[in-house]
Amino acid sequence: MLNDSFFYHDGFLHCDALDLRILAEHTGTPVYVYSASRIRANLCRLQNAFAPLDAVLHYSIKANGNLALLRLISQAGIDMDAVSGGEIYRARRAGVAPQRILFAGVGKTSAEIRYALDEKVEWFNVESADELCLLNTLACTASYTPSVVLRLNPGIEAQTHRHIATGHARAKFGMPAPIIAELLVHRADYPHVRIAGLHLHIGSQLGDVQETVQAVQLAQALLAPYPDIYTLDIGGGFPVAYTTDDEYPAPDAFAKALFPLLKGWQIFVEPGRSVVADAGVLLVSVLYHKEQGGQRFVIVDGSMTDLIRPALYEAVHPVVPLHKTELNLRDAMVVGPVCESTDVLNRSCLLPDLSASDYLAVMGAGAYGMVMASNYNMRPRAPEVLVENNTWRVIRRRETWDDVLRCEEDEV
Ligand code: LLP
Repeated sequence: MLNDSFFYHDGFLHCDALDLRILAEHTGTPVYVYSASRIRANLCRLQNAFAPLDAVLHYSIKANGNLALLRLISQAGIDMDAVSGGEIYRARRAGVAPQRILFAGVGKTSAEIRYALDEKVEWFNVESADELCLLNTLACTASYTPSVVLRLNPGIEAQTHRHIATGHARAKFGMPAPIIAELLVHRADYPHVRIAGLHLHIGSQLGDVQETVQAVQLAQALLAPYPDIYTLDIGGGFPVAYTTDDEYPAPDAFAKALFPLLKGWQIFVEPGRSVVADAGVLLVSVLYHKEQGGQRFVIVDGSMTDLIRPALYEAVHPVVPLHKTELNLRDAMVVGPVCESTDVLNRSCLLPDLSASDYLAVMGAGAYGMVMASNYNMRPRAPEVLVENNTWRVIRRRETWDDVLRCEEDEV
């Protein structure tokens, strides 16, 4: 969807002051393009929304972990939410201090926990009783006492795609209320960690504020007997409108609904998608078209290996031409070269007549795009470019075939 950073000017799609055609000609396609100013504006909007709660924002690195973006986000005063040793490593390489990193995730290995402790990562979100035991054991030789928030599985079915709902009872995430209650009663058994609070994340692209409110109330009820435990990490999940038909609550609707509940609590928030999704596009080029079975196919050089969201979540990312024309707009399915029927970037969008080499932009691709890209079909991953006003720089170069083969034995 078009916004303040991605708009048509004189008939050509721009990212801020840059004509995207010029960029695509330099870099080739497929290429991810991000707007620095849009990321800053999104951060500002989230900071303003959660300012009344005095919340500490931890950007969810999993949404887009490019080092240049992490530096930009960290410089805006945002802390980091990492879900693997690798993401901690990334955050450290981007210059983020360990006190500003929170280590979450349902399956941390002991090697990852050791690494996080060696790095003196301040916060751990713990998802099982076994993990708490392991962390307590490993922390016994650490030079500091890490702080822990226990992840509650509130048994709440969030209104979102089933693949990104995490708060229902059958989900692998967090612990049910009775287990949390038990751990809190016996918290003295874990002397090498400081149990500081609870964590919730009931899903991503959340459609309803009230479900988060309910989950927070449940967490607060569990903590009622412990006035010295007052940290609540309310997770991420703030939704983004991908198409003009999407209607979702804005981040400040979540903040406003929670405000009356959260006075006096230390609050953490973990936004990912809402920081970067609408700050990025994937540019692709038309290779061929054909009409068959009553369907118009536009075959492009980008694919599900670049952006898997349409295949995995039936996500709708509008596809628009870089050169806008209203002439002869017709329905088209935009597909990639990969040998899979699910290799579709958009099932149904209105596109004009197109020729080979014409450029298209897949909108709203800044979150869970490049980070979920793969080398399937031996496809090198696309480069990433960061736009600052009318200048741009490559923040990750295009992979080569040799990059893809780097980790394999190559004996002749
Ligand atoms: N905190 C936790 C514990 C999470 O699991 C997630 C996302 C976030 C924060 C950030 O959520 P966000 O603000 O981005 O909604 N690949 C999927 C989304 C998976 C989300 C995983 N967890 C997609 O492309 O829609």
